[in-house]
Amino acid sequence: MTRVQTNWLASIIAYLIYLNYIFECNAQPPEDHSPISRKEFVRFLLATPTKSELRCQGLNFSGADLSRLDLRYINFKMANLSRCNLAHANLCCSNLERADLSGANLDGANLQGVKMLCSNAEGASLKGCNFEDPSGLKANLEGANLKGVDMEGSQMTGINLRVATLKNAKLKNCNLRGATLAGTDLENCDLSGCDLQEANLRGSNVKGAIFEEMLTPLHMSQSVR
Ligand SMILES: *[C@@H]1O[C@H](CO)[C@@H](O)[C@H](O)[C@H]1NC(C)=O
Ligand SMILES: *[C@@H]1O[C@H](CO)[C@@H](O)[C@H](O)[C@H]1NC(C)=O
Repeated sequence: MTRVQTNWLASIIAYLIYLNYIFECNAQPPEDHSPISRKEFVRFLLATPTKSELRCQGLNFSGADLSRLDLRYINFKMANLSRCNLAHANLCCSNLERADLSGANLDGANLQGVKMLCSNAEGASLKGCNFEDPSGLKANLEGANLKGVDMEGSQMTGINLRVATLKNAKLKNCNLRGATLAGTDLENCDLSGCDLQEANLRGSNVKGAIFEEMLTPLHMSQSVR
C-alpha cells in the first residue's frame, strides 16, 4: 500500500472507533438515575468474590427486590434503598451509612457488624433481625432515623443506637443487653418484654415509652444523665 492509502485507512478506523464510542455512551446516559433491578444486580453479584466491597455507593435501588441475597461487605453508602425488599438478606458487615432505607422490608435480615450511621430507615420493618456479631464487631446505628420502625424480636446485644431517633418505634421482645441508648429518642417507643440488662440509657428521652414485662429490672442509674 502507498503511504496515502495507509493514512486513509487509519482515518477510517479512527472514525469507526469514534462512532462506537458515541454509540456506547448513548446506550448508558450518565443522567440515568432509574433504579437497578434484581436481575441486573444478581449478574454483578455472581461476578464478584464474596469479600470484595462491591461499589454500590450512591446507587439507586429504590423499590427493588433484593430479598434473600448475599450482600455481605457491600458499600451501600448514600444509596437509595427506599421501599426495597431486603427480607432475609445477608447484610453482614455492609456499609449503609446515610443510605435511604425508608419503608424498606428487612425482616429476618442478617445485620451483624452493619454500619448504619445516620441512615434513614423511617417506617422500615426490621422484625426478627440479627445485629449480634459473635466476633464482637458491634452494629453501629448512631444518629440513624428509625422513626416508626418495627424491630420486634430482634437480637441487638451491644448495638450502638446513640442519638438515634426511635420515636413511635416497636421494639417488643428485643434483646438489648449492653446496648448504647445514650441520648436516644425513645418517645412513645414500645420496649415491652425487652432485655435491657447493662444497657446505657443516659440522657435518652423516654417520654411515653412503654416498659412492660421487662426481663430485667431497669436501674435508675442506667437512665440518669
Ligand atoms: C431513584 O428511583 C426512583 C424510582 O424510580 C426515583 O423516584 C428517584 O428519583 C431516583 N433517583 C434517586 C436519586 O433516588
Ligand atoms: C429515593 O427514591 C425515592 C423514590 O422511590 C425518593 O422519593 C427519595 O427522595 C429518594 N431518596 C433520596 C435520598 O434521594
